[in-house]
Amino acid sequence: MVGERSPDLPTEQPVAITTESAEAQAEDRFCHWRDRLWDAVRPVDTSFLSNTDAMALEMAARQYSYRGIQTIKNPFDWALYSLLLWELKPRTIFEIGSFAGGSALWLGDQLNNFGIDGQIYSIDINRVTEVSHPRVTFLEGDGRNLGATLSADWLASLPRPWLIIEDADHSYGTTIAVLEFFHPWLDRGDYLIVEDSLSAGKPLQALAEFLAVCGDEYEIDTHYCDFYERNVTWCINGFLRKRTAVGAIAPAFPPRNLGEPGVPQWDGFWLHWMQDCLDLCQRSPGHPSALNELSSARAQYCQRWYNTAAADLESTWHSSLGQFYQRLIASNFPQRRISPTDWEFLQDFVKYCSGLPEPEASIQVTIVALAFPIQALNRAAWEDIHQRLPDWLRPHLERALATRSAILDGVGEAIGGGDRLM
Ligand SMILES: C[S@@+](CC[C@H](N)C(=O)[O-])C[C@H]1O[C@@H](n2cnc3c(N)ncnc32)[C@H](O)[C@@H]1O
Repeated sequence: MVGERSPDLPTEQPVAITTESAEAQAEDRFCHWRDRLWDAVRPVDTSFLSNTDAMALEMAARQYSYRGIQTIKNPFDWALYSLLLWELKPRTIFEIGSFAGGSALWLGDQLNNFGIDGQIYSIDINRVTEVSHPRVTFLEGDGRNLGATLSADWLASLPRPWLIIEDADHSYGTTIAVLEFFHPWLDRGDYLIVEDSLSAGKPLQALAEFLAVCGDEYEIDTHYCDFYERNVTWCINGFLRKRTAVGAIAPAFPPRNLGEPGVPQWDGFWLHWMQDCLDLCQRSPGHPSALNELSSARAQYCQRWYNTAAADLESTWHSSLGQFYQRLIASNFPQRRISPTDWEFLQDFVKYCSGLPEPEASIQVTIVALAFPIQALNRAAWEDIHQRLPDWLRPHLERALATRSAILDGVGEAIGGGDRLM
C-alpha cells in the first residue's frame, strides 16, 4: 500500500546523492573519432527512432519556445545539454547561431539554476536585440569569419572551461570555418558541439574533415552521443572533448572551398526529408508543419519547372525530384492545399503534354490530381484548361474525374477557398 513500509526494508539511511552516473564518470565513454561510425550514423539507422519519428520530433522542435522565445532543439538534446552543463560547468559558452535568442536565454537560466558563474556569447549574422539576460551577450558576426568579431586578446582573457556550440546555417563551409577558428583556442577539457550534423549542408562531412587533421586532439563523448541509443541526438558524433592543451599541436588546415552559405537543396538528403514529411502526413493527417514543408516543396518544384528549357522538361520530369513531385501530387494526403503555383504548373504542364505522343501513367495521375480540386473550386479556370487538353488526355481525365466525383463535395473544404487559386 502506498506509504506503508515493508518490514524487511532496511531502516532509513542518509542517501548519498550522486551528481553523475557511474557511466558518466567512466573514462571509457570517450573514443577516438576513427572508432565511430561515419557512414551509417543517422539515428534511424542505429536506434529505435524511425524516419517518421525523427521527422515528427524535428517538426515539433521548430514550434518550440522557451519563455515565449522561439528556439529549435529536440527534447532529447535539451535534456543532454542540461546534463552536460551540470557536468562541465562551463565559464564561457559560445553559441554560433542565435536565431531568436531562445536557446541562449535557456543557457543563461540554466547557468543561474546550477550556480555556474559563466557567460554566453551568442553570435549571429542577424544580431538578436529583443532578448536580454545578464549572462548573455548577443553579437553580430559571421561564423565564416569569426576573427572579425572576436579579438585574440579578448579571447585569451576568457575563463575556462569553454563550451562551443556550432549551430549556424549547417553548411559545410560555415561548420568547418567555426571548427577551425576555435581549434587553436580550445584547452584540455573544453567541449565542442556540432549541431544538426546530418543537415543537407553536410556539417557531418565538415566535422569528419576537421577531425582528419586534428582528430587526435579530441575525443568523442559517447555518453552524450549515445545516451538514449546510438546517436539519438541531432548532434551526430557531435559531442567532442578536447584532449590536449591550447596550441599543443598546431595543425595546418588545408585550404578549404567553403562553397555557398546556407543549406543547398534539391539533393538526395532533401528528397529523403520530404519523403519523411509525406510519411508523417500520412501517419498524422493534417500535420501542419509537415504540410507546410510539402507545400513549399511543391512550389519549389513548380518554380524549377518554369525555369527549365523545353528540351530538358522530359528529363526534369523523370529526375528524382520530378518523381518525388509525382508521388507528392498522387498521394492526396488529407487537407492537401492547392496553391497558385500548382495552378500555374498545371497550365504549363498541359502545354508540355500536348507535345507528347502518348500518355504516361504518372502524367495522367498528376493532371488528374491537380485538375480535380481546380474543377471543384473554380469552374471557369477548369473550362479554360480543359479546352487546351491534348486529345489523348481528355477521355482519361474525364473518366478519372467521374470516378472521383463522389467525393467532390468534400474536397472544397479540404483544399481551402477558391480564390486561393488565382
Ligand atoms: C539553426 S538556427 C540557430 C538555432 C538556435 N541556436 C536555437 O537553438 O534556437 C541558425 C541561425 O544561424 C544564423 N546563421 C546563418 N548563417 C550564419 C553564419 N554564417 N554565421 C553566424 N550565424 C549564421 C541564422 O541567422 C540563424 O539565426
